[in-house]
Amino acid sequence: MKAPISRRRFLHGSALAAGAATAAPLLGLAGPAFAQEAARRAPKVDVKQASDLGLAPVMINANENPLGPSAAALKAIDAIAPEGGRYLFNMQKELVEEMAAQLNVKPEYIVPYAGSGLPLQQTVMAFTSPTASLVTADPTFESGWRTADRVKAPVHKIPLRKDFSHDVEAMCAADPKAGMIYICNPNNPTGSITTRKDIEYALKHKPKGSILVLDEAYIHLSPTAVTGADMVAAGEDVVILRTFSKLYGMAGIRLGYVVARPDLMERITYFSTNALSVTAMAAGLASLRDPDLVPTRRDANTKLRDGITNWLTSEGYACTTSESNCFMVDVKRPAPEFMEAMATYGVFVGRAWPVWPTWSRITIGTPEEMARFKDAFAKVMAGKRGPVPVKMALLEDERRDGSHTAYA
Ligand SMILES: Cc1ncc(COP(=O)(O)O)c(C=O)c1O
Repeated sequence: MKAPISRRRFLHGSALAAGAATAAPLLGLAGPAFAQEAARRAPKVDVKQASDLGLAPVMINANENPLGPSAAALKAIDAIAPEGGRYLFNMQKELVEEMAAQLNVKPEYIVPYAGSGLPLQQTVMAFTSPTASLVTADPTFESGWRTADRVKAPVHKIPLRKDFSHDVEAMCAADPKAGMIYICNPNNPTGSITTRKDIEYALKHKPKGSILVLDEAYIHLSPTAVTGADMVAAGEDVVILRTFSKLYGMAGIRLGYVVARPDLMERITYFSTNALSVTAMAAGLASLRDPDLVPTRRDANTKLRDGITNWLTSEGYACTTSESNCFMVDVKRPAPEFMEAMATYGVFVGRAWPVWPTWSRITIGTPEEMARFKDAFAKVMAGKRGPVPVKMALLEDERRDGSHTAYA
């Protein structure tokens, strides 16, 4: 039997499914085994029970935007929905032209998708193989790792530098047979920036025959990160991925795009169909044409994030230097223990990466949600637990259940 909608929606957005018993063996693990497990599990609660206790879930675990689509985007969705019986390819052309104009590239250098997750996977499939590896940072967004595993491509995970930027020298030197160098800028999960100088270094020194992929999913949230779109326009071996899931608040509406030279694009899009949801296109166009949206949301996010990271630092918990809607905090204990304890207050924080097993990723929510985070954090660090019963379960199970947010 299916759970009621509200519960299903929540489980979809949280992570996992299994019994409380699964937490115990995890917490008994040590060393690398523990680190691997830490990245595979997360807590879940019954949303109704949590709400009845006055602790409705705060979902700051999946780098979503609690503000959702902008007012202009919602209006555009409403206006276009009655025309949803048509493909509206002309609108798709208009959207691509708008994207191209904003990045100063030719329209044929852009292909839109329902989000950027699929084109990222297709890019890995196109440019890596058992004899052409993937080189990434660690920690970084792991989707490329999983795809590379599936095509049996070797994966080189290069630790971030001490300042949390990508170690482009080490990445370029990792494997002369690399097929793809992946730089997420700002980086998920740290929110850290890779400078233009470092990106230019990577372009110049990457192994012959490889491509440089710049995942700019979070770039609108950063005041300093510089796009590599001009490198694409200049005909370089660069692929850029963009999404409307983050600042634009359209993770559930689904819109993203690839920017690449046509010959590279041909390889990425080889197995794609190109019709998009008309509501996503209308919302995307309205968002792109709203001049205040990016600066307003970016500034609000920056203020809130800096307030939280300054507070955490003053309390003695190191945070990454972030220019994004997420950051990592060293909770000085196994991250799953922290995640579980926070969930007893209805606060869902993000996962850990095996390379940093005591760090947890925190997404910036609303001011009210961040107030709940602070309150729960202080209590958890004082050794307290809240009233909400929590179960730990495997991310894979949740994923099979239809959730992708656990891996956002
Ligand atoms: C760095 C990065 N790239 C790509 C994606 C894919 O997101 P979407 O498919 O919603 O565009 C995500 C999602 O969290 C992400 O963090």
